Amino acid sequence: MHHTAKCHTPPSHLLACPKCQADTHSGFEPEQQRCQNCSEHYFDLAGMPCWFDTGIRQHAVWQNLYANMLERGETNLAQSQALLNDKTQLASTQARLHRLCAGNQAMLAALNTLLAGAGLSAIKHAEYADHDASHMLQYYELLLRDWAWPATEALDADSETNHVIGRNTVDENRAELNRIAVALKATGKGLGDTWVIGAGAGRLSVDMHMQLGASHTIALDANLLLITAAHRLVTQNIAWQLPELNSRPQHGFATHHVWSLPYRPWPNYTTPREHLQNWYAMAGNAWQPPLKPGCFDSVVTPWFMDVNGREPAALIAQVQKYLKPGGLWLNTGPLLYSASLNDAQKLSHDEIIELLVLAGFEVVYQNIETSAYLNSPLNAQQRTEQIWTFAAVAPLANATHPVQTHLLPAHPLPTQPPAWVLLPHLPIPINITFNTQGNAVLEQLAAKVDGVNSLNSIAEVMRANLGPEKDALEIVRNAFVEYLLV
Ligand SMILES: C[S@@+](CC[C@H](N)C(=O)[O-])C[C@H]1O[C@@H](n2cnc3c(N)ncnc32)[C@H](O)[C@@H]1O
Repeated sequence: MHHTAKCHTPPSHLLACPKCQADTHSGFEPEQQRCQNCSEHYFDLAGMPCWFDTGIRQHAVWQNLYANMLERGETNLAQSQALLNDKTQLASTQARLHRLCAGNQAMLAALNTLLAGAGLSAIKHAEYADHDASHMLQYYELLLRDWAWPATEALDADSETNHVIGRNTVDENRAELNRIAVALKATGKGLGDTWVIGAGAGRLSVDMHMQLGASHTIALDANLLLITAAHRLVTQNIAWQLPELNSRPQHGFATHHVWSLPYRPWPNYTTPREHLQNWYAMAGNAWQPPLKPGCFDSVVTPWFMDVNGREPAALIAQVQKYLKPGGLWLNTGPLLYSASLNDAQKLSHDEIIELLVLAGFEVVYQNIETSAYLNSPLNAQQRTEQIWTFAAVAPLANATHPVQTHLLPAHPLPTQPPAWVLLPHLPIPINITFNTQGNAVLEQLAAKVDGVNSLNSIAEVMRANLGPEKDALEIVRNAFVEYLLV
């Protein structure tokens, strides 16, 4: 695709094909951005690997998304311009509308600077016409929080209106890093090779990398805007101008300000700047990452547990799959689950801890605190969120930690299913007697239990026969629970 820069590719011992999981010894060729094993091709944007399981098709998806974003932006601009045609307004109203138009224009310019600058073209593709661009801008404020709202700039005057811009805010990035630093310290471990899942605009992953001594950090996110910006600001070290717009007036606050976003390492960074070369922005899907299972010392999930489209049990399995035995999981964020989960899936803190313990993790640290969240210097309203931080150590390959029985309920209901049902990635123990009732299909299922297979791995085999539209895991799990276990 666009080879404007050499690809900033993580070391091969951390990489695997996102589609077929072949590693660099069995067909995946990171330098060529292709996989000999499954014949898939991948691409980069300005040297950032964009390695989705959808392969090269993701490039067209993003071209289309970019075109949709531009269209939305142009519609917004046209709407604010149309209001200026009304000749019955106060001169000061007109002046405000002019500023709003300028803001909308600046927003479009910022998008183009970032995405065209990364080598992407805005092209509509009919097959992706139903892809909605709104979710791309849903996390726009994270860019501002991560890179634009340092407390010292907040009280500058707006150049046009000469109004004071807003108020001082606390540095949320520093508070976030501190929460992770305290959790890490409690474990007595180092970060080593680290995967940050859903890294967003990237700030925490960079701060951790530089301040807390990771050897390599992979900051992976699926959001085109956020991860491209992270790559631009950190790896390419190119500044960016990002406007913030508040269409509703607040007294003493500017409605529009253009922030400049250079990446400024904190003055007290202890690590030389060259260490940034071992930090990698990657675009990809957390559920099919371009990464090699079992080779990360640490996995970090900041503000990700509740908004990844799947339930916590699936995240536990995914983290365990990519960690080394005895590796470290650092989680931080609230439990503000997205609407895609049903009430049974919106697990509480205690329920997640129970599952972690059943999966063999050792929970070594937990903390709950209320903290400022996305508080812009341009906004009089303030928001807080309850943040849960934990550190948990993954089980070793052949032995688990002593089970933390004090973290489990003293008397679980007799109806509670076994751990391998609750967590379908766990192996099914071999010493269970199944009631196959002379049924050939049930016998076939029971025969797969060998002390290694899990409900997930059995479902994986069945999926080929059942077809993609059926939920293989649900069918296999129900067969075990409803028939084989009774
Ligand atoms: C609430 S944001 C948090 C971002 C960042 N960690 C922070 O604290 O600012 C959640 C992030 O997860 C990303 N995300 C959600 N599902 C994902 C997936 N399947 N693969 C990769 N990233 C995903 C979103 O794009 C978004 O950037």
